[in-house]
Amino acid sequence: MAPAQNVVVLAMLLAVVFTSLNASPTEDDFLHCQRTVKRWATSSLETKVKEDKHKLQDLLFFLHIPRTGGRTYFHCFLRRLYYSSLECPRSYDKLRFDPSKPNCRLMVTHDDYSVVSKLPRGSTSVVTILRNPLDRVFSTYEFSVEVAARFLVHPNLTSATQMTGRIRPKNKGVSTLDIWPWKYLVPWIREDLFTRREIRSQGGFSSIDDNNDSYNMEKIVMPLHQFINDPIAHDIVHNGATLQVAGLTNNSYFAESHEVRHCISKYRSLGEYVLEVAKKRLDDMLYIGLTEDHRESATMFANVVGEQVLSQFHTLSSSMEQSNNKSELSPLFLDPEGDGGRIQNTTNKLEESEVSAENVEVAKENMTVAKLMEAYEVCISSLRKAQSRRRFSSLKRISPANFSKEARRQVPEAVLKQIMSLNSLDVELYKYAQGIFFQQQKDLMEKERQKSALSSSHAAQWKISLLVVTVLLFLVIIFLLVSARRRTSKLKI
Ligand SMILES: *[C@@H]1O[C@H](CO)[C@@H](O)[C@H](O)[C@H]1NC(C)=O
Ligand SMILES: *[C@@H]1O[C@H](CO)[C@@H](O)[C@H](O)[C@H]1NC(C)=O
Ligand SMILES: *[C@@H]1O[C@H](CO)[C@@H](O)[C@H](O)[C@H]1NC(C)=O
Ligand SMILES: *[C@@H]1O[C@H](CO)[C@@H](O)[C@H](O)[C@H]1NC(C)=O
Ligand SMILES: *[C@@H]1O[C@H](CO)[C@@H](O)[C@H](O)[C@H]1NC(C)=O
Ligand SMILES: *[C@@H]1O[C@H](CO)[C@@H](O)[C@H](O)[C@H]1NC(C)=O
Ligand SMILES: *[C@@H]1O[C@H](CO)[C@@H](O)[C@H](O)[C@H]1NC(C)=O
Repeated sequence: MAPAQNVVVLAMLLAVVFTSLNASPTEDDFLHCQRTVKRWATSSLETKVKEDKHKLQDLLFFLHIPRTGGRTYFHCFLRRLYYSSLECPRSYDKLRFDPSKPNCRLMVTHDDYSVVSKLPRGSTSVVTILRNPLDRVFSTYEFSVEVAARFLVHPNLTSATQMTGRIRPKNKGVSTLDIWPWKYLVPWIREDLFTRREIRSQGGFSSIDDNNDSYNMEKIVMPLHQFINDPIAHDIVHNGATLQVAGLTNNSYFAESHEVRHCISKYRSLGEYVLEVAKKRLDDMLYIGLTEDHRESATMFANVVGEQVLSQFHTLSSSMEQSNNKSELSPLFLDPEGDGGRIQNTTNKLEESEVSAENVEVAKENMTVAKLMEAYEVCISSLRKAQSRRRFSSLKRISPANFSKEARRQVPEAVLKQIMSLNSLDVELYKYAQGIFFQQQKDLMEKERQKSALSSSHAAQWKISLLVVTVLLFLVIIFLLVSARRRTSKLKI
């Protein structure tokens, strides 16, 4: 053989070996992944059907997807409905989580669905709120920056982190920095903010043009497009709602979650299995709210969840009165998403929470759904004011960057499209949740209609009997009159 031919044959052989080496493991890997994901999905869907998903069970689990507004439900509804002694130990933070607390009836946490496997079987009702994925990603970015920017009061990162490190052990409350996903997002953005400030002060960045887009101000804060493309955002932001409802966040209790997550990020088509599990979970929930339809969601929450909690308590309250004493109240009620990075005065907080717990309990005795809604309106408006004050003072530190509706309009279409594409499972899940939500609303209206029809038929019956009585009375009077006249006419004769 000529040397040239030799080379060609060798090259062909090499090519064959190379492709077979390359192709079959890939194929194998895909099939292996598919099996893994399918096995997980099947076992997740195996759980028995609840007897009645519309009935509130002993334990209410509020699966709080970050940045959906769940905190207002917690503060303005649930704290008014439940004695604090009935709340499970604060479980936003895995280490403190203790579902074995007797009588614990309310759990609000950023934990994903896998935590249900740790709870008493069959006696848990799950509720959640979903939000348009685009807004959820924006809000996650903005909140990470907002909390991180509070640390800019410090001269440098070392002093900022030392400060929080010193404060935390003393403080038994939960800070944003202890809660998934903020415990990853905030330190990441915080470090980035300090780095950019450092470069600015050293006259770096000078070649970069000033620009008008708050979501792309490289000199001050990590631009949105960089945020969404970072591996950390892939780990904990994108498709976050689907993963949390499925129980597959990177904070999951499922042993196989790591492998399943790895597979669906490698082969996006396998995400469909996860989506199906998440949809099924939504189907089985007691209540679903939508951040966008805020008023309707709150009203429905009061009617669907609030009403049942109240009637549960009417049967419970006598036993509660005996067992409810100060030492049983959960000692601290900090506002985890609100207080991150701020120095907290522990003694003050303690007093505050005891006072408010007392007030809440007095109010509960006479609580009705209508009063609950009234109190909610007041509560939410003060909560919103406090939030926007905090946001304003924090965003001042990264001025001229500022996050607002107007500023969002400057974000290029390509970035928005990319967010939607990175969150394609969440886009589907949100559509599905909207379907459930509007059905829920219809069912509720139907119930109300039946109720009012019933009461109006009561009213109709009442009117008829009134009429009958009137007519009878009238006849009796006439009879009396007539007989009286007869008597008088008889007398005359
Ligand atoms: C950070 O700030 C603190 C407090 O002003 C100062 O003592 C420390 O030397 C600073 N550290 C660095 C690395 O600049
Ligand atoms: C800067 O932003 C404002 C609105 O925030 C807009 O009206 C204005 O045209 C922008 N300027 C430039 C140069 O893009
Ligand atoms: C979750 O994601 C964060 C951010 O990427 C990472 O630092 C952390 O190690 C992950 N946790 C687990 C258990 O994989
Ligand atoms: C209050 O609770 C504590 C501990 O749970 C208990 O020892 C105490 O007897 C209770 N007091 C009353 C008045 O029930
Ligand atoms: C906490 O509050 C108390 C009472 O208002 C005050 O005396 C104390 O100095 C405060 N501590 C801190 C660290 O701010
Ligand atoms: C509950 O309402 C009744 C009647 O309105 C009132 O007499 C009672 O004091 C109220 N109880 C509480 C604890 O507010
Ligand atoms: C950010 O923008 C909002 C809405 O345009 C405005 O009300 C607010 O004052 C601005 N905040 C800062 C810190 O400039």
